[in-house]
Amino acid sequence: MEDIVMTRAAFGTTMAFHIIFATLGVGLPLMILLAEILFWRTKDRDYETMAKRWTKAQAILLGVAIPSGTIAGVQLSLLWPGFMEVVGKVISLPFQIEIFAFFLEALFMSIYVYAAHRLSPAMRFLSVFMVLIGATASAILITNVHAFEGTPTGFRITNGEIVDVNPWAAFFNPSFFVTAGHVTVSAYMTGAFAIAGVAAWKMLRVEKGGRVYTYHQKALLAGLIVGGTFSLLTALNGHESAQLLHRYQPEKLAAAEGLFETQAYAPLAIGGFTDPQTKEVKYAVEIPWALSFLAANRFDEVVVGLDDFPQELWPPLYIHTLFNGMVGIGSLLIVVGFLGFAWKKLLRRSQFPRWVLWVFVASGPLALLGIEFGWIFACTGRQPWVIYRVMKTADAATHAAGVSPFFWIFLAIYLFLGIVTLLVFRSYFGRHPLELEPGTHPTDQPAE
Ligand code: HEM
Repeated sequence: MEDIVMTRAAFGTTMAFHIIFATLGVGLPLMILLAEILFWRTKDRDYETMAKRWTKAQAILLGVAIPSGTIAGVQLSLLWPGFMEVVGKVISLPFQIEIFAFFLEALFMSIYVYAAHRLSPAMRFLSVFMVLIGATASAILITNVHAFEGTPTGFRITNGEIVDVNPWAAFFNPSFFVTAGHVTVSAYMTGAFAIAGVAAWKMLRVEKGGRVYTYHQKALLAGLIVGGTFSLLTALNGHESAQLLHRYQPEKLAAAEGLFETQAYAPLAIGGFTDPQTKEVKYAVEIPWALSFLAANRFDEVVVGLDDFPQELWPPLYIHTLFNGMVGIGSLLIVVGFLGFAWKKLLRRSQFPRWVLWVFVASGPLALLGIEFGWIFACTGRQPWVIYRVMKTADAATHAAGVSPFFWIFLAIYLFLGIVTLLVFRSYFGRHPLELEPGTHPTDQPAE
C-alpha cells in the first residue's frame, strides 16, 4: 500500500514540476508573437525589445522543460509498466506525432533565437508562429493520453489480452477536443498573466512615468488583455469539460461538488469541505439548480450522486477543494483582466494605483496555481483508476522495491533545479537590464 502511495508521489512530483515549465513554454510564444505583430504595426521598438527579452525567458524555460519532460517519460516506463503496456499497444500515436511537433518547435526556435536580426519581418513572424504551433501541438498531443485515460476507446480487454485495437479511435477519444481546448487556452492565459505579473512587479520598483515604467506598462496591458480574454475562454471551455464529466465520469463530478444523492435541480456548492459522515458540504454557499445547469445546460437535468457508486470507487472527496480552487482562480482572473482593460481603455487613467498593481502581481502565480489545481483535480479525481473502468492505478504500478528513495532524490533535484532556474533568470536579466536595450534609454521620453 505504501509503495503505491510513493509511486504516485514520485510521478506526481515530476509532473507538478514539469507542468510549470511546459505551460509557460506554450503560453509565452503567443506573447512573443503578439509583441512581433505590435512592433510590425506600430514600429514602437519597445515591442521589439519585449519579443527579444521574452524569447530569452522562453529559452531558459525550455532548458528546464525538456529534461523534466524526459524524466517524466522515463518514470512512466519505470513506475507504471502496466499502464505503458496499454499505451504501447493502443495510444502510442500521440507520443509518436509529438516528436515532429517538438522538432518543429526546436527548429524554428533556433532560427528565431540565432538569426532573428537577419530575418525579414515576415520570416520572423513565421518563425515565432511555428514555435507557437509546435509548442501547442506538443501540449495537445501529450495531454491527449490523459484525455484517453478518462474516456478510453479503441480497444477491448478480453481474458487479460488487449484486442480489437483501433489507434485512431483511441486518439479521437470523446475527451480529445475539449481537453485539447482547455489545456491550450489555460496555457495561453497563464503565459499572459505571468508576463503581466512580472511587468506589474517591475512597475512597483521603478520611477513612476519613466521610460522603463512605460515599457512595463505596455507589457502589463498586453498581458492583461490576452490573459483576460483567454481566462474567459478557459471558463467557457471548462463548462464543456464539466459536461463531459457528467456524461462519462459522473462520480468525478459528484465528488467535485460533494453531491451524494442523485437529483434533478442539483445545487452547486461553492467552498466548504465535504463531510462523508453527514454526506454534506459543510460551510459551503449553495447555488440552487446551478450544478444541473453546469452539467447539461438545463435545470431539470438529473445529476448522479456518489451514493450510486460503491464507496471503494469514490474519488477522494478533497477534490471538491481543488475544483473550487481552479474555478475560483479562473473567475477571479476574468475580473483582473477586465479591471486592467477598464482602467486603461474605458476610464483612460494613465497610471495604475499601487494596490491594483499588487493584484496584477498576484495574477501570474495564481494562474500557475490554477494549472496545478486543474491537473491534480483531473488526475486524482479519476482514482482509483489509471484508465477509467479498465485498469486500476494499483494494477498499473511497478512492483519493484526502493521507490521511496527515488521520490526523495527527485524531490531534491526539482528543488535544486527550481532554485537554479530562478538564479539563472536573475543573473541573465540582471546583466542585461532593460536600460541597455536599444530604444529604451533612460533619457528617452515616455510614450505618453
Ligand atoms: C473557470 C472555470 C473552469 C471550469 C468550469 C473548469 C473545469 C474543468 C474540469 C471539469 C476539468 C476536469 C476534466 C477532466 O477531469 O477530464 C478541468 C481540468 C483542468 N483544468 Fe479547468 N476549469 C476552469 C478553469 C480553469 C483554469 C482557470 C485553469 C488554469 C489556470 C484550469 C486548468 C485546468 C487543467 C490544467 C486541467 C487538467 C487538464 C484537463 O483535464 O482538461 N481550469 N477543468
